[in-house]
Amino acid sequence: MDVVTGAFSFTGRYVAARLLDSGREVRTLTRRPQSESPFGDRVRAFPLDFADPGPLRGADTLYNTYWIRFPDGGTSFEDAVANTVALFGAARAAGVRRVVQLSVAHASPDSPYAYFRGKAVVEAALASSGLSHAIVRPTLVFGDGEVLVNNIARLLRRSPLFVLPRAACRIRPIAAEDLADLCVEAAAGEDDVTFDAAGPEELAFEELVRTVREAVGSRAVLLRGGPRTVLAVTRGLGVVARQTLLTPEELGALADDLLTSAEPPRGAKRFAAWVQESAPSLGRRLATGDRRPWPG
Ligand SMILES: NC(=O)c1ccc[n+]([C@@H]2O[C@H](COP(=O)([O-])OP(=O)(O)OC[C@H]3O[C@@H](n4cnc5c(N)ncnc54)[C@H](OP(=O)(O)O)[C@@H]3O)[C@@H](O)[C@H]2O)c1
Repeated sequence: MDVVTGAFSFTGRYVAARLLDSGREVRTLTRRPQSESPFGDRVRAFPLDFADPGPLRGADTLYNTYWIRFPDGGTSFEDAVANTVALFGAARAAGVRRVVQLSVAHASPDSPYAYFRGKAVVEAALASSGLSHAIVRPTLVFGDGEVLVNNIARLLRRSPLFVLPRAACRIRPIAAEDLADLCVEAAAGEDDVTFDAAGPEELAFEELVRTVREAVGSRAVLLRGGPRTVLAVTRGLGVVARQTLLTPEELGALADDLLTSAEPPRGAKRFAAWVQESAPSLGRRLATGDRRPWPG
């Protein structure tokens, strides 16, 4: 039996599917009710109560995807760190054999971005916890249910204009299926390891947008703008959509090339192949972390 945080959300859903396919029993820790399970009763949901070892007892591996995109609803990045450290404590108390921790490429205590600094603190806490672990650091993860690319497609479908940042913004995206495979392989090992999870090709953000634009048949005119323009436009669209489409931190990380990796590619699937497959449903609905655009 393994425990996956967020098995009804994005990355955790791919990990849970992979584990079920290989015959494992899977539990999840989540804020969501059992009725939202895409796996029916095959995955049992427990509350995301970080300090509770109960649901973790008997688990071989804890796959931890828990994190926040930006401070929201009273949860800061410091809270997210404390919650994650409490979860590691619960895993130890429960006798979990191994932890596979979803981090992020370029996690660093010196990062100007709280998201990346928080991830580095969590990595250090795991390294000193005494738990056998693998730290997997994705770049940008693409797949059904993902928010960013879906919402780019949404804007390209609906708006006559799309503003690109002036910076090249290099991205080496990885498919969610490939990431799930890497996580499950990493669980099988015994050594403590840390590695980036990046796909086979590096794209400039403009190439990524053009690939999506073509696939969804958009005629939106692509313009370039500085960070203030990009943020002003996305903030305005976010007000209409009643959600945060892009934060200054996310734009900064994109412009600083933090969504790429210098490590060898570990994923095989190409971004353009997935966009082609997903084009009919991509961007049909606006997505949020709470309302993901699963096809069908
Ligand atoms: N998506 C990417 O492109 C990407 C890139 C690099 C790194 N990562 C990392 O990969 C991991 C998974 O990312 P994801 O995009 O797949 O995330 P996700 O599925 O949206 O969420 C992962 C988990 O975090 C929980 N969560 C999210 N916001 C929360 C909040 N405000 N309060 C309490 N719980 C919250 C979710 O709870 P529920 O189960 O209740 O939904 C779920 O268990 C994260 O650690 C992320 O930092 C992702």
